[in-house]
Amino acid sequence: MTVTILATVIVLIFLGIMYLVTLVFYNNKKNRMIKEKLTMQTQFQQTLLQTQLEIQEQTFKNISQEIHDNIGQVLSLVKLNINTMELDKPEPLQEKIDNSRTLITKAIQDLRDLSKSLNTDYVIELGLMRSIEYELEMIQRTVNCEIAFTANGKAYRLERQQELILFRIVQEVLHNIIKHSKATAINVTAVFEPETFTLTIADNGIGFDAGKIEDHNYEGFGLGIRNMHNRAKMINADYKLTSTLQKGTTVTITLPLIKNIQP
Ligand SMILES: Nc1ncnc2c1ncn2[C@@H]1O[C@H](COP(=O)(O)OP(=O)(O)OP(=O)(O)O)[C@@H](O)[C@H]1O
Ligand SMILES: [Mg+2]
Repeated sequence: MTVTILATVIVLIFLGIMYLVTLVFYNNKKNRMIKEKLTMQTQFQQTLLQTQLEIQEQTFKNISQEIHDNIGQVLSLVKLNINTMELDKPEPLQEKIDNSRTLITKAIQDLRDLSKSLNTDYVIELGLMRSIEYELEMIQRTVNCEIAFTANGKAYRLERQQELILFRIVQEVLHNIIKHSKATAINVTAVFEPETFTLTIADNGIGFDAGKIEDHNYEGFGLGIRNMHNRAKMINADYKLTSTLQKGTTVTITLPLIKNIQP
């Protein structure tokens, strides 16, 4: 009898200890998970902020070039027109007035676009498509290259973070094309499907050995491609780069459209 009671007490104590150990273990695990989630959230916010800063930095560079090369040139032409106007020759005078009017309209439009892009949230305000279009227009003015931008399917807006990150990726891909590819043509395609959004940016330049990148070995490379990869991952997008020597490079980003923002 005493033995049975003793055995029961021992078993109960043992079960109690087991229960406590499990509870402590479970609580620790839960706390660890909450901590990890918070760290991921902070990292996500930091990367978003960094992305925004990089977009701004690149945009300021573009704007400074745009003011110098484009708006400055247009206004100089208008000044030249005015300086060479001769009131007693009505025909060339009319032509110069018309020409100046067109140039001034263009300068006003460009200034409007520029002032929009000085707004920190311009990607959010203009939307991804218009922002890409604007970026391509800027590039078109500085490089001698055939640029095409096509959109297929019924367009929709993506989430704020997705648009920001995608835009930054596009900026870096285009930057790489200008810096490294010697391309004579750039093709950007956006495909809007109900379940996926796909962006393809292709150039016909010199290409490079992208084999290492497929193995996630970025040794000897800059930060650009590595960052693009990591950022695509953050929004659950698939980033694929293929390159053929002397043929060109293609980057494809596929974004599934479920509620997919991490974490
Ligand atoms: N479109 C392209 N055409 C040809 N080569 C390319 C192209 N894109 C990338 N590369 C090659 O891949 C390398 C890695 O690109 P990545 O963007 O990672 O670095 P980077 O442009 O050299 O430097 P960073 O981006 O840090 O300023 C480049 O140095 C270049 O040799
Ligand atoms: Mg780069």
